[in-house]
Amino acid sequence: MKKFVTFLILTMSFSTLLYAENSGWDMSKENYAGTKEITVYSDPNCGCCSKWVAHLEKHDFDVTDIKTGAIGMIKGKYNVPPALTSCHTAIIDGYVIEGHVPADDIKRLLNSRSDIRGLSVPQMPVGTPGMEMGDRKDHFEVISFTDDSEIAVFQKYTDY
Ligand code: CU
Ligand code: CU
Repeated sequence: MKKFVTFLILTMSFSTLLYAENSGWDMSKENYAGTKEITVYSDPNCGCCSKWVAHLEKHDFDVTDIKTGAIGMIKGKYNVPPALTSCHTAIIDGYVIEGHVPADDIKRLLNSRSDIRGLSVPQMPVGTPGMEMGDRKDHFEVISFTDDSEIAVFQKYTDY
């Protein structure tokens, strides 16, 4: 697992160097009137994590950016289902946000006050906010999960 994470981090750092920003994700389509204080845990070497934080800030989230070498422990502490893990883990208003979830989906969740544990974009699909690589836009899903590990599709992105 540690090797895999190192591999991911190297790949991410490379992609940050190779590809310029090219993102429609920063345009807000969903409004949330409440406070948007979010704590993001990520590895200090993770380039795409910082880009995701920048994406949140463009949507006026108030980010506390915590770098940790023990990101696996954070995922355990907040009960992120192992099959749904990605690079960073964030906490907002009691919800867990795992991976490159678009800011508008977080706002949609906050507006719905849905009775779930959180949202995840598992692994790191190319094209998600913070994972832009030129014109490549992989299809991906935002998955919701509950404390009982019930999972469901929260949002599907096939054309964006
Ligand atoms: Cu990432
Ligand atoms: Cu990340």
